[in-house]
Formats: sequence, structure tokens, C-alpha cells
Amino acid sequence: EESKKVIITEDESLPKATKAKIVKLEPLRGQRVRVSGWIHRLRIQQELTFIVLRDGTGYLQAVLTGQLTKTYDAKTLELEAAVELTGTLQVVPEGKTAPGGHELTVDFWRTLGSAPGAEDAFSNRLNEQSDPSIMADLRHLVLRGETASGVLRLRAALLSAFRTTYEAHNVLEVTPPCLVQTSVEGGATLFQLPYYGQEAYLTQSSQLYLETCLPSLGDVFCVQESFRAENSHTRRHLSEYTHLEAELAFITFNDLMSHIEAVICETVDKLLANPIAASIIQQLNPGFKAPARPFKRMAYAEAINWLNEHGIKHEAEDAGGNVIKDEQGNAKMVEHAIGDDIAEAAERQMTDIIGTPIFLYGFPAELKAFYMKKMPREKGATGPIFTESCDLLMPNVGEIVGGSMRIADMEELFEGYKREGIDPKPYYWYTDQRKYGTCEHGGYGLGVERFLAWLANRYTVRECTLYPRWPGRATP
Ligand code: 4AD
Repeated sequence: EESKKVIITEDESLPKATKAKIVKLEPLRGQRVRVSGWIHRLRIQQELTFIVLRDGTGYLQAVLTGQLTKTYDAKTLELEAAVELTGTLQVVPEGKTAPGGHELTVDFWRTLGSAPGAEDAFSNRLNEQSDPSIMADLRHLVLRGETASGVLRLRAALLSAFRTTYEAHNVLEVTPPCLVQTSVEGGATLFQLPYYGQEAYLTQSSQLYLETCLPSLGDVFCVQESFRAENSHTRRHLSEYTHLEAELAFITFNDLMSHIEAVICETVDKLLANPIAASIIQQLNPGFKAPARPFKRMAYAEAINWLNEHGIKHEAEDAGGNVIKDEQGNAKMVEHAIGDDIAEAAERQMTDIIGTPIFLYGFPAELKAFYMKKMPREKGATGPIFTESCDLLMPNVGEIVGGSMRIADMEELFEGYKREGIDPKPYYWYTDQRKYGTCEHGGYGLGVERFLAWLANRYTVRECTLYPRWPGRATP
């Protein structure tokens, strides 16, 4: 009750304070500054209150002394309160460290938005042992932490670096629609919605639209949300993810893989040359080094042999696609054969053993989408027809990019529609590309969250987006 009576006022005889964000403070050392932010850390020691303030641009250490620690605001100060601090910015003495190398000696301050203590205190609601589903419900508070905000800051730098890289390669950014009426990667994973008396979907990929841009704008890319109604509760599947896709005209399959490698490596180099991004990478993924070039290239058939040589098996399935189990309920494990899909578990084991980026290329047409260009068949060859398709696999994550050359010939495209049981009618605009000046072309999609999981060594893609969506979760 005593504290309610201690009132502080700003001393008008002091030099006028400059309002600034934390990241801009260095040139203001020795001067009076005014900084607003949230209480990130708080330590109270009798007549000294030590604060680490956070404003989204950085962290600032501040100290309150004397009467400043006796006000009502001071007595009720809690983590995550919003405050305004005014004082003189001083270089920290030799041998001491603080974020930015300086500290604010406060002469006036006030609470702008208080935060509760006791049971409802921030640190009580959020502690690192919390159950993952509680943490997901509290994502809006988790975001205030150093790790989550570091990942998101790195994500912003990554998108910006990709854009700079594409500009240097004369690839133009476009923004295709999210509401569509065609599927790209098969009907099984489409989210459907009613649309003015018609049916529409949330896009799975902007690829088909990017292809239509080639004769108009030349090589193009987009950063767009893609949606997949997959019931996959894995470390690397989201129901909504950020899809970086590009499409290039007049290229060969070899050009396509070289381009993907160049874009990734140049983007990583830009991040490592950016002091803020580099320090976040260092903090989240200590010892990270840019991958060596060229990336290893491995044909699909080679990979099947590699898996068998290394004793990596997969679960046997019956004709209906159900896993075959023994009496104990354990899945029957069998060797890989040409024609098999390489499942996530096997792909991951291979990538982790090899330990470098791998282009896995030439998947059987049966396993892939309708639009993929086929490889010429060797004379007398039997077995599956392979496609000019590639996945880029990264250690710790597995597939981060999927790409291919596209069918340029109209008749071949109609065969593709037929093989996949697709009605060509809604695809008339896609078919027209083959009618009016068709050309050899190809492209790819990169999962931004997967890329970030690799770069920042995150356990799951759920940590790599602002508000992740997975089966059953669309809150907050
Ligand atoms: O291999 P996908 O399905 O390929 C396509 O959609 C092509 N049409 C892209 C193109 O050629 N323009 O997806 C491409 C990438 C994957 O390699 C993966 O990184 C990411 O998108 N991805 C997902 N990321 C998170 N959650 C999911 N459910 C994902 N599905 C695909």
C-alpha cells in the first residue's frame, strides 16, 4: 500500500530523449533514449531491478535504481508487461556483456500494459516441460520466446534472400490464386469448398499456373501457400505450407537440377553473409556449413539397390494397400523392388547415412503426377517407364524439393490425363499451353518449412511457420 504513494516524474531539465527501436541504439550511446518493449527477463535485487527488454528488433539490458523501484508499477512488474523506459545508454564496462554491448540506466519509466503474476504469470502458463498440445494452444505466447522468434526472423531473411537470388537469375515473381478448380498432385489430398454453387479447392501447387506464365513473362516463381488434406502426423507434413515454386522455359532436365542447386546454394551464401541471419543460424544450428557443390545425383534405380545393400526394408502391403502384419502385430518388412515408392522412413535413413544433399531422380511414371515428362526408353528395355523428375533430399529432413520436366507434347499430355483418370475439360487452359507454341520446360516446388527445418536444425516443420496447421489443428 505504501508503494502506491511513490510517484515518479520525468526530470524536465534533462536533455530531450530520442525515441528509438533497440536495433537502432548503437549510434545513440551516451545520449538519453526512450525505448518501448516487453519485459523479457526480470531480476529484482533490493533497490535494483534488472530488466532485459524486448521490442522485436532486439534485446536491451536496463537497470532501475532507487525511487524507480518503489512505485506501484515497479512493485507489480511482471514478465511480459509492456513498458516504456527512458534513460542514458551506456557502454557496458570491460569484462561485462550485454546484448548490443550497452545498457540503459533508466531515469524515468512507466508501465504501458501490465501482465499478471502468480498463477496466471507468463512463466507459469509456459514452461518448457509443457505438453506439446498445450504448447500448440499457446503458440501465440511461445512466439515471444527467443527460439521461436529466431526461427521466424530467419524465415523472413530466407524468403528475402530467395527473392534476391531469383532476381539475379531473371526469374519474375507472380502471385497465383489459392482458390482453384483443378488438382495438381491428385484428388486424394484436395481440400474442397463450396464456391458460388460450384466446387472449388484450396491449391495444392501453383505449378500449372506458373507454366501458363512462361510465354507471357518468361521464367517465373511464386511464394504461395499450398494445402494438403493428408492425414500425415509426421515431423515434415503440414496441412498448409509455404510453397516456393519456379518454372523455367527452354531448359533440359540437367539444367533444371543445376538451377535448383544454384538457387539453394546462392541463397544460403546470402544468408551466411547477412550478420543477423548468420547469427541466428549459429544459435539454432551451431557449426552449420553451406553444403558442398555439386550435389550428389542418384538415379531412382540406384537408390533401390542402395537401400537393399544397406538392409533398409519397407512395410509389405497387400493389393489394397494395407500393411501386412504378423501374429504379434508387427509389420512384415520386405526388400525394395523397382517400381516401389521410396517411403519417408527409408528415404530419411538413406539421407542421414549419406549425410549430404542428394538429388534422387528418374522416378517411375506410375508413381508420379500426370504432367511429368518421360525419359526415352532404351531399346529392348522392359519394366517401368521413368520420368525426368527429381527430389532433393537433405540430411535430417529428407525431401525438401520436388521437381520435373513437364510434358510438352499435347498427345502425350492427353495420355497422362488418361493414365491418372483425369477429365481433361477443366484443364483446357493447361492443354492450350501445348497448342500455342509449346516448349520444353520444367520447374519445382520447395517446402519453405522443410528448408528451414534443415537450415535451423528444427525437429519438425511445425516450428518453422507462424501458426502451423496439421490434421485437427487450425487454432490459434
Ligand atoms: O513434391 P510436391 O508434392 O510437388 C509439387 O507440388 C509440384 N507440383 C511442385 C512443382 O513442381 N512446382 O511438393 C513439393 C514440395 C515437397 O518437396 C515438400 O518440400 C513440400 O513441397 N511439401 C510439403 N511440405 C509440408 N507439408 C506437406 N504436407 C508437404 N507436401 C509437400
